[in-house]
Amino acid sequence: MTTAIIGVGNIGSTLARQLVGGGEPVIVAAKDEAHAETLANELGPLARAASVEEAIASADAVVLAVWLDTTKELIAKHASLLARKVVVDPSNPVGFDAGGQMSRTLPADQSAGSVVAALLPASAHYVKALGTLSAPTLASGANREPRAVLFYATDDETAAATIERLIRAAGFEPLKAGGVADAGRIEAPGGDLHQFGFNGELVDLDQARAALAARKVTA
Ligand SMILES: NC(=O)c1ccc[n+]([C@@H]2O[C@H](COP(=O)([O-])OP(=O)(O)OC[C@H]3O[C@@H](n4cnc5c(N)ncnc54)[C@H](OP(=O)(O)O)[C@@H]3O)[C@@H](O)[C@H]2O)c1
Repeated sequence: MTTAIIGVGNIGSTLARQLVGGGEPVIVAAKDEAHAETLANELGPLARAASVEEAIASADAVVLAVWLDTTKELIAKHASLLARKVVVDPSNPVGFDAGGQMSRTLPADQSAGSVVAALLPASAHYVKALGTLSAPTLASGANREPRAVLFYATDDETAAATIERLIRAAGFEPLKAGGVADAGRIEAPGGDLHQFGFNGELVDLDQARAALAARKVTA
């Protein structure tokens, strides 16, 4: 299985590093191809850089590690290439003002996951995942004992099997939070199963299962 990671910023580069560390081949792409090439060179033989188009076409799974507006643009541009692919969406509905203050970019009752899933071709296997931790926590939280949980949300069994494999390869324990209708629970701001909903802490499987069962949607 080959995973394309579109975007090599905070999340994309961390994830690429972790997947390669877990033995998964990756193809990385960015707006500026030189950024992807620099990362691929650092990661060695399991990684290569490509254009966005080639990366999507060559991969079984595609992680859209870009901001939500860019995700929308990329889906519009590459819809036919995304057909039948597993599409992993870590986006949170957040923007930043000039002072660096974070704010929500979608209405409180609308998740980024519901927006992205609705834009994809019907044959794509959509999963919301890999955006539940801040990038520094994602980087530092892998391969703990017991493993830290990464929640995911999907209505699709193929997507679930693939993201479980990728989350394990990255050094975490996967746990399904629900379907796309539950994506808001694992997004920030407001999701009770996002890292911010745990006061910034990582959770292990027992803690995550308890939270999944006990907490109500607050987003
Ligand atoms: N940062 C976090 O702590 C965090 C945590 C959870 C979830 N997320 C989510 O993860 C996503 C990425 O966040 P980030 O912090 O990693 O962003 P980032 O550091 O700003 O990186 C964005 C990446 O997107 C690439 N990009 C922009 N336009 C593109 C295009 N048209 N085609 C291909 N690539 C394009 C950029 O390419 P260049 O390198 O060429 O500029 C860059 O590599 C966001 O949706 C965010 O909500 C972030």
